[in-house]
Amino acid sequence: MRIALGVTGGVAAYKAAELVRRLQQEQIDVQVVMTRSAQEFVAPLTFAALTGQKVLTELFGTEAPANVESAIEHIAIAQRIDALVIAPATADIIAKLAHGVADDFLTTLYLAATAPVIVAPAMNVNMWEHAATRENVQILRERGVHVVAPDEGYLACGMTGAGRLAGVEAIIDALLEALGIRRDLENETVLVTAGPTCEDLDPVRFLTNRSSGRMGYALAEAAVRRAARVVLISGPVSLEAPLGVERINVRTTEQMHRAVLANLERATVVVMAAAVADYRPVMPYASKLKRGTERLNIEFEPTADILADVSRRKGERVLIGFAAETEQVAEHARRKLKEKAADLIVANDVTAPGAGFDHDTNVVTIFRSDGREQSLPKLTKIQVAHRILDEIVELRRSAQRIGSSPEAR
Ligand code: CTP
Repeated sequence: MRIALGVTGGVAAYKAAELVRRLQQEQIDVQVVMTRSAQEFVAPLTFAALTGQKVLTELFGTEAPANVESAIEHIAIAQRIDALVIAPATADIIAKLAHGVADDFLTTLYLAATAPVIVAPAMNVNMWEHAATRENVQILRERGVHVVAPDEGYLACGMTGAGRLAGVEAIIDALLEALGIRRDLENETVLVTAGPTCEDLDPVRFLTNRSSGRMGYALAEAAVRRAARVVLISGPVSLEAPLGVERINVRTTEQMHRAVLANLERATVVVMAAAVADYRPVMPYASKLKRGTERLNIEFEPTADILADVSRRKGERVLIGFAAETEQVAEHARRKLKEKAADLIVANDVTAPGAGFDHDTNVVTIFRSDGREQSLPKLTKIQVAHRILDEIVELRRSAQRIGSSPEAR
């Protein structure tokens, strides 16, 4: 995610530094653009140091003579950003935006950008309440600009009233909402299992499966984005843990089982996306198995069914299992939903095009314990993850509705 942050000339310009920090914590890359008057309040160097990027101030570059590259930079940036945030926004910039004036980098960028725009005004109370400002704000709102209303309070000019820059969190919330990113898992701790497990035959050989871990990692990433705490219990995969996720590495089913139980207490949602080995050799060889001419028989024993074990301790937790199948997907999924007492089973036919192990996409059907079933089209694994998380939010909402209905009391 990459945004441009426009800083305009008001006392609150210094608060934009804090906003940059918080945006970075959300893994959002920030390009700062300052108006000339903003630079009277804060030096561009502050933002350059925070972002590690040149701060854009001039439409035609400072190094004379201006070249074509600097003259069209605003267009290039306008095409690259996912959103434009202007905070603090003065009465002057709001007037310019409302009337299409494009006489510096920021106003030109605004006109050239097609991404969502979030404006957080900050000014003297009388300026905020002036009919001209009111009308200009109204014009922006009607054009789809998200205006984060200023807070009331003591203002730098000595007056009290509306005009203080809205809090950093309110601005971030408006941005995430404009980008379609919700923070609806704020109160959840999501435990995700991912990847394959390995069962040793001897010190150099093991049995495993083709799981890449991508679906589980996508779930972890999407849940963190939506403000959940995430514990990712991962079999051996070649993926990096998404930022903000606590990863616990395991190898065998037994290790995964132990790690899940050890972290179950704090989990409010459990998503078992791991492809767990169902059997393991009864007696792994202590030393490397040697070639022979006889047939080799190895005895296997079942491993623990982690999902079934978690479902026995389910409590209020939302429990989601996966079913990777090669035939009779729906029948197997419905059986697993019942046998494992899960809230949802996400099933896919791993042999279908664009689904399964080594793809960035997946084609799944969601089976719910209330009997409803939903087949999703081919989506990226991140999109599938968000659809699964939407189900969790929906389950919580309906549990609340039932809990607060008169019959339930
Ligand atoms: N699972 C588990 N522990 C196991 C096996 C599976 O927790 N020992 C979980 C998986 O993570 C998945 C769900 O159970 O969420 C279904 O896994 P799957 O391998 O499809 O089903 P199995 O129960 O193993 O049944 P089968 O192998 O007969 O398809």
